[in-house]
Amino acid sequence: MTAAEVLAAHAPAANLAPELSAWDGELAGKLLMAPMAGVSDAAYRLMARAGGAALAYSEMVSCAGLHYGEKSWELVDPDPAEPDIAVQLFGSKPELFRESAERVAARLGEKLALIDINMACPVPKVTKKGEGSALLEKPALAANIVRACREGAPGVPVTVKIRRGRYMGQEVAPEFARAMEDAGAAAVAVHGRFATQMYHGEADWGAVSRVADAVSVPVIASGDVLSHDAALRALSETGASAVMVARGTYGNPWVFSGHEPSAAEKVAAFECHVRLLEATGAHLKRARSLAGWYFKGMPDAARWRNAAMSCVTAEEFLSVAAEVRAHVL
Ligand SMILES: Cc1cc2nc3c(=O)[nH]c(=O)nc-3n(C[C@H](O)[C@H](O)[C@H](O)COP(=O)(O)O)c2cc1C
Repeated sequence: MTAAEVLAAHAPAANLAPELSAWDGELAGKLLMAPMAGVSDAAYRLMARAGGAALAYSEMVSCAGLHYGEKSWELVDPDPAEPDIAVQLFGSKPELFRESAERVAARLGEKLALIDINMACPVPKVTKKGEGSALLEKPALAANIVRACREGAPGVPVTVKIRRGRYMGQEVAPEFARAMEDAGAAAVAVHGRFATQMYHGEADWGAVSRVADAVSVPVIASGDVLSHDAALRALSETGASAVMVARGTYGNPWVFSGHEPSAAEKVAAFECHVRLLEATGAHLKRARSLAGWYFKGMPDAARWRNAAMSCVTAEEFLSVAAEVRAHVL
């Protein structure tokens, strides 16, 4: 089965859309599926779009990886069922960004909604090479990277994703965002934490507001948008044009529409997601964490999560879902 056939056959039982519409190019009022390394693969993005996300991002993709090998291209290629995707690149060398932007644009054509540059990743493996949130300390280099992407992919919107700042208490986001706007960034996504906070502590939406006050391009709010209500609040409280949902999508593709799923819909969504992993050629092991997320809060949730931990094939995961249905519904 193709992913489009899976959605047509299985999305309705989960109260998800069987057909996906393309992004209209506008950010105003939109809820977006955030980039998440190790999570936002084609199947995950398809579930998010079927749940109502206006656009979904790839996992972060290394420009050096695209330059030197073939493997990273798997993170870039959308499934044919995806109307379009946002591709997020990371690196530190403008020349490699230019080349990556050019090749990604040529490869994806109309399916490329935008290119986003990761200036937010706090992981030491990334920052020690001057990539991700390390760029927050080098606005001139970061601006050159934005320009390089625009030159590499003329006509494709180039956006940046930043944090409040790199080090606790040292907020650079408003000034930094202005510099990215001057370099031609079409939008700025702001995660309201410092890089050194990793994912701890509360995200400060005030930082999003301060960036929104500082620039005239659209701002996308990120951080602690864990429910549909939180997404609407982030839109009304921060002055951001759009909102990104990351961890709030775990087991909850309905976070984009505000639909409150029944237990039956959650099981159906897990089944649909497993079939999408299969249809998109993904590693089925990803369904192990998905099981924990979709079955969370159900009676005997730990039992179902444990059962999924030893599954390998799609059939095995689907039989756990059948067991949940028999026992819980
Ligand atoms: C598992 C995981 C992977 C992530 N990977 C990326 C990534 O590849 N690129 C990126 O810009 N942000 C990444 N993020 C950050 C999210 O996009 C988002 O900005 C952050 O989680 C804050 O939103 P939340 O509090 O709603 O989760 C990741 C977050 C998580 C939890």
